[in-house]
Amino acid sequence: MSADYHVSGAVAVITLNNPPVNGLGLVTRTAAVEGIRKALDDANIKAIVITGAGKAFSGGADIKEFNSPKAMTEPTLHTLIRTAEESTKPVVVAIHSVCMGGGLELSLGCHYRIALPGAQIALPEVKLGLLPGAGGTQRLPRVLGLEAALNMIVSGNPVPSEQLAGTALFDEVLPAGTDFDGLVKAAVAFAEKIADVRPLPKVRDRKVDYPNHEAFLQFSRNTVKAVAGPFPAPLECLETVAASVTMKFEDGLAFERERFMHLMQTTESKALRHAFFAEREASKVPDVPADTPTRKIARAAVIGAGTMGGGIAMNFANAGIPVTMLETKQEALDKGLATIRKNYESTLKKGKLTQEKFDQRVGLITGTLDYADIADADIVVEAVFEDMGVKETVFKKLDEVMKQGAILASNTSTLDVDRIAAFTSRPHDVIGTHFFSPANVMKLLEIVRGKATGNDVLATALALSKKLKKTGVVSGVCDGFIGNRMIEQYSRQAGYLLDEGCLPEQVDAAMERFGFAMGPFRMGDLAGNDIGWYIRKRRAIEKPEIQYSKTADLLCELGRFGQKTGGGWYDYKPGDRKAYPNQQVNDMIVKHSADIGVERRPIGDQEIVERLVYALVNEGAHILEEGIALRASDIDMVYLTGYGFPLYRGGPMFYADTVGLPNVLATIERFAKGRHGDAWRPAPLLVQLAAEGKGFNSR
Ligand code: NAI
Repeated sequence: MSADYHVSGAVAVITLNNPPVNGLGLVTRTAAVEGIRKALDDANIKAIVITGAGKAFSGGADIKEFNSPKAMTEPTLHTLIRTAEESTKPVVVAIHSVCMGGGLELSLGCHYRIALPGAQIALPEVKLGLLPGAGGTQRLPRVLGLEAALNMIVSGNPVPSEQLAGTALFDEVLPAGTDFDGLVKAAVAFAEKIADVRPLPKVRDRKVDYPNHEAFLQFSRNTVKAVAGPFPAPLECLETVAASVTMKFEDGLAFERERFMHLMQTTESKALRHAFFAEREASKVPDVPADTPTRKIARAAVIGAGTMGGGIAMNFANAGIPVTMLETKQEALDKGLATIRKNYESTLKKGKLTQEKFDQRVGLITGTLDYADIADADIVVEAVFEDMGVKETVFKKLDEVMKQGAILASNTSTLDVDRIAAFTSRPHDVIGTHFFSPANVMKLLEIVRGKATGNDVLATALALSKKLKKTGVVSGVCDGFIGNRMIEQYSRQAGYLLDEGCLPEQVDAAMERFGFAMGPFRMGDLAGNDIGWYIRKRRAIEKPEIQYSKTADLLCELGRFGQKTGGGWYDYKPGDRKAYPNQQVNDMIVKHSADIGVERRPIGDQEIVERLVYALVNEGAHILEEGIALRASDIDMVYLTGYGFPLYRGGPMFYADTVGLPNVLATIERFAKGRHGDAWRPAPLLVQLAAEGKGFNSR
């Protein structure tokens, strides 16, 4: 049973009880329907109250049932709502804390609604590329009016219950300070008072009046279209809400059902739901159970106050954790602290930070040149130059000074975390925490698990990622980990495209049309082309067999590192991030093709996209096969949160699944016969899954 039934006088109280948020799964729906029927059969009962135990009234559909036939098994949510609405005894809902999605739709089907203030009221389905499919689009406008309901349904954002007091959504919003018991008592008293009132009020019988609604709807269509981008759901939400004005209730309900089923099948919604689950899955590591003890993180330190160190320190301060940055020279330290201050000042000026929070955060960040000042930090994140020699010096020193039990983390983006760990006498305390630039903004945190990393250290890093409001994804040790190892193959293809006939603006435009936030060359200019240059120089010694287009090296030899030097693949004007093509660079690219004897040819968008995206996919398949990533959805999360991969395509591995792995493989095999075919050896896992008719995400 996941709903409790008890009787208070002449009122039956049904309490949904399916932790954590009373999701309306099959068992809960069954128990609620049985509760209503039991109350109807009991001659002593005159009215029914429905509420929810614990942290929520109801968070809506049970996400565990999302892709399972259980969601369609009777009693469905529709049946539950109809049972409540058609009950011959009044049904009162008692709402608190969270009333979202199906929870709100159930409430709208009941005859009366009482709420505590501060409850979050929402129909958030649009955020998963859907629309409320259990009457929400037809009933909410009938109690809130067209405009307010449209805003809530198209945005999916929660509105606090007290803000909706006085509307027909609530019969009563109780005074602040009332607790759960007070709510239930008030609901029972209310139920007793109205027990004999007939006819029973039904939201479905109300009308949505809006003078000149067509003009308003047309205006809204234009606005929604402009902000919805590639996602169909917001406009579908609008059209179904419009049906609440233009159609009879039953017809509107049927229309809602039809559009809901349509959205369920769209790639965009599937991608959003995939990302939703992927984020939850990413924090699970099979051999590190959820109850693994974690270490306390009350104080942090960061080594290096450069681009990354500053951003990382801000993360700790934003989470309320005091942090000390250590540098070798006062000048570098002052510069790092000043950059942080400037960053916070600009947020303050934009009104996105209160003066109090500003003072608090700036106050939590201190600087030092002395290791003694950081010795008792619970975690230290090293963010010095990407050079094994420098990392060695730092980690030997950390081993010497840090208190026992401190976590020693490295922000390295490519180097071997096991080698770094071996510089210390406590490799189990060493882990990679790879932040992405700008570290105070980007959501991704790649957590690199070394051979010796302790389970409690890993569990602490995962918990910390949540505290820092990041999406933590675990990666094994390899050159570049998940994200940068894949991006290298992507960048290689981008370089070869220049050799073969493209210019940077053409490649970037194709990738941006595909949906990337930024094409590879604009991204290079933003991150700094010198970073890749440095890595290629290292690779030339370590792995001389790996080939690259020389264009990026030629660009760096011109001193064009990107935005920070005023120009890279493109030119930039001060204070303007717009990229302007540069003739000298484009001439250099064309000349290079001639120098290496390649006849330039026209290359279309499709080839550009396939070469870049399938380069990611093929490397992703290797990474999955080697166990560097725990699951395909982790790779998708890395790309969605760290590399601007289009959300509506669900990440590279999900995208490959939607294209069909046999199709992806056939294209890769075709590329393997072309120039630089050696870069296109299909990953064995891709070959295997394609043959088995499976996908990366459905192995
Ligand atoms: P940066 O050059 O901006 O900053 C490095 C800072 O470390 C400098 O301020 C330098 O004075 C300081 N430093 C050097 N040796 C030191 C030592 N022995 N003790 C204390 N401080 C020392 O470099 P950035 O970009 O911040 O990179 C730092 C690390 O983060 C590297 O491992 C890099 O691979 C990684 N990373 C960089 C990303 C980026 O986009 N820049 C992204 C993710 C990781």
